[in-house]
Amino acid sequence: MKKALSILTVSAMAVSMLAGCGSSNTAATTAAATEAAKTEVAATEAAKTETAAATEAATAAAAEAGATDLADKKVGVCIYQFSDNFMTLFRTELQSYLESLGFKPENISIVDGANDQATQTNQIQNFITSGVDVLIINPVNSSSAATITDMVTAANIPLVYINREPDEQEEKRWADENMNVTYVGCDARQSGTMQGEIVADLENKGDINGDGKVSYIMIEGDPENVDAQYRTEFSVKALKDAGIEVEELDDQVGNWDQAQAQSLVANSLAQHGKDIEVVFCNNDAMALGALQAIEAAGETVGTDVYLLGVDALQEACENVKSGKQTGTVFNDHISQSHSAADAAVKYLKGETNDHYIGCDYVKVTTSNVDDILASLG
Ligand code: GAL
Repeated sequence: MKKALSILTVSAMAVSMLAGCGSSNTAATTAAATEAAKTEVAATEAAKTETAAATEAATAAAAEAGATDLADKKVGVCIYQFSDNFMTLFRTELQSYLESLGFKPENISIVDGANDQATQTNQIQNFITSGVDVLIINPVNSSSAATITDMVTAANIPLVYINREPDEQEEKRWADENMNVTYVGCDARQSGTMQGEIVADLENKGDINGDGKVSYIMIEGDPENVDAQYRTEFSVKALKDAGIEVEELDDQVGNWDQAQAQSLVANSLAQHGKDIEVVFCNNDAMALGALQAIEAAGETVGTDVYLLGVDALQEACENVKSGKQTGTVFNDHISQSHSAADAAVKYLKGETNDHYIGCDYVKVTTSNVDDILASLG
């Protein structure tokens, strides 16, 4: 605000100096008087330009101060599926943070894509038609990103992707074509690696039965999603990198869903029983389902089997604390939702963003679970 005030002061001085020049010229010859009149006009024009510039600067400064004009901005948010536990935490935090920045609740519209890309594409079209100022999109299919980007940028609306990362080629295009498009999220390779490291750091390195190898089952999220692909690959890679021999007993798709994971793990336990030493789940919702199946089979986490998830859902953290889940990885929905909102605000202020805005995962075990629970509030 200080900056805007000084611009206004300088422009007021410039106007009075120019006006002063003009009036002294009027006392001279007719020709000089004509020149003076021209100077007066020029001075008025200059003053107008100065005033416009000053007004613009003041508006920018007001926006910078987090002020009023965000209240009139409309933000559209597309979530791939409301029933997803993690995305529920994400969107709840996003809504309240946007409000704290000054957006009016009635100008924040968050819609459920119901895990259907056609539905979501319609919702995006409706947002464009209704004239939103910025869009935040968690795509149903990351492979639809190029189509979504084209639709949104053709309407001159800035776009912040969240949670489901579009591929490298698409992200490169945003930079090459100087688009107001960015992605906010974490690198899923890191979360997979951390899951594997938690097992490798155990005293027996995950080898409960002492046969020299770790026998595991993998419960995957939506396989179209890079988070699922990377977590599956990198959790096992971390074990191998630690010099541990591994054996895959089963690999199933649970679509991030607790109930699906419960029945998959129940089947796997029926087939492989105590041969399963580690259950890797690509997220905590599925780890909660896995735990139900493990307990129903009369097994105990920590003694008969190890159980890993990702997200640090409150319930999963409570389970880590009581030993019912070996570990999880904090997927920081607070920092990601805030970064997404901040990026949207920068676009609204006419500023640019990096085309990738990252965030670190955090390993969660009994040693730090209390801190993580405290930060979840
Ligand atoms: C992941 C998260 C999952 C699920 C998924 C949806 O980052 O760990 O629980 O929410 O995103 O894309």
